[in-house]
Amino acid sequence: MIELIDKLVADQDLTSHELLDLLVNMDEVSKAYLISKADEVRRANYGDKVFMRGLLEISSYCKQHCVYCGIRSENKNADRYRLTLDQIMSACEEGYRLGYRTFVIQGGEDDYFTDEKIVQMIVAIKSKYPDTRVTLSLGEKERGSYQKFYDAGADRYLLRHETASDRLYKSLHPKMSFDHRMKCLEDLKAIGYQVGAGFMVGVPGQTLEDLVGDLKFLKKFKPHMIGIGPFVPHKDTPFRGYESGTVDLTETLLALIRLLLPDVLLPATTSLGTIDPKGRERGLKAGGNVVMPNLSPIDVREKYALYDGKICTGDEAAHCRKCIEGRIKSVGYQVDMSVGDNINWRR
Ligand code: 5AD
Ligand code: FES
Repeated sequence: MIELIDKLVADQDLTSHELLDLLVNMDEVSKAYLISKADEVRRANYGDKVFMRGLLEISSYCKQHCVYCGIRSENKNADRYRLTLDQIMSACEEGYRLGYRTFVIQGGEDDYFTDEKIVQMIVAIKSKYPDTRVTLSLGEKERGSYQKFYDAGADRYLLRHETASDRLYKSLHPKMSFDHRMKCLEDLKAIGYQVGAGFMVGVPGQTLEDLVGDLKFLKKFKPHMIGIGPFVPHKDTPFRGYESGTVDLTETLLALIRLLLPDVLLPATTSLGTIDPKGRERGLKAGGNVVMPNLSPIDVREKYALYDGKICTGDEAAHCRKCIEGRIKSVGYQVDMSVGDNINWRR
């Protein structure tokens, strides 16, 4: 195991067979070594900085069918909401005051938010706060729409690939197309966005081989950002009876990703904090260098429920800002409030 980890550090790659070997045979000693190497590489690239992103969840309406997700269109129990442009602008105002310089605009695939409305929102944010980055996370669109958003000033786009396995993709996403998702990711890259991909850990039906496929896909696609977090069940989805993914496997995968793509921006996610009170801290120690505290208005937080038990739903943005800072410092890192672009990214 140690030899394989050293080889991974030296080559920034391993064969699928070797990666699978690591996932199958990881013991406590090797895991501690893996995590120490991931932290070394993260420090060599980003020092002890942890970048902060302010997350705005603008709509819980969604026309898609992702089996694992609490806001899927089939969930008739979901309490749906949309933010107005005024609400979005006030949340940005508070976020800016708290020091945030990246706003992540996330939402379900909601046709109410036409391209025009999205462009208007981007222009409003960027003209008021030109020294910020706008990250969109609004799902699959056609290339022309992505281009309009980019031209309006959007800088980054998060679209997790969810799984690199066509078979697993089909089982998790009835009525959706794996090829279209991949095309979206290619389009976003070609347009010039900083692009985020990623996947869930421990989603029902996922094997260790599938995870190796995800790692190899990421190595090849080279996203600027990678979001991974444990699957967490939601009570109103077909996956209600399944177990969550584990912190243990998520940590291992975060560390492997840091070693495969040393300069990647890698968040310690809210889902990781949801399944373990120290989950985000452990994610940071395993190579993570981003956190995304919530800036959405408190009264809608509970409604953006992709999974059960989501943390921070009752906490004001200012409270989360302080809380997360304490957590970051508690594991030996420093908060960085700059825009925090990928170190190898040039517009
Ligand atoms: N558990 C964990 N993560 C989830 N996501 C959606 N549903 C769940 C769930 N039940 C993730 C997906 C999506 C991102 C916004 O949230 O990977 O891309
Ligand atoms: Fe929100 Fe701790 S980060 S309460």
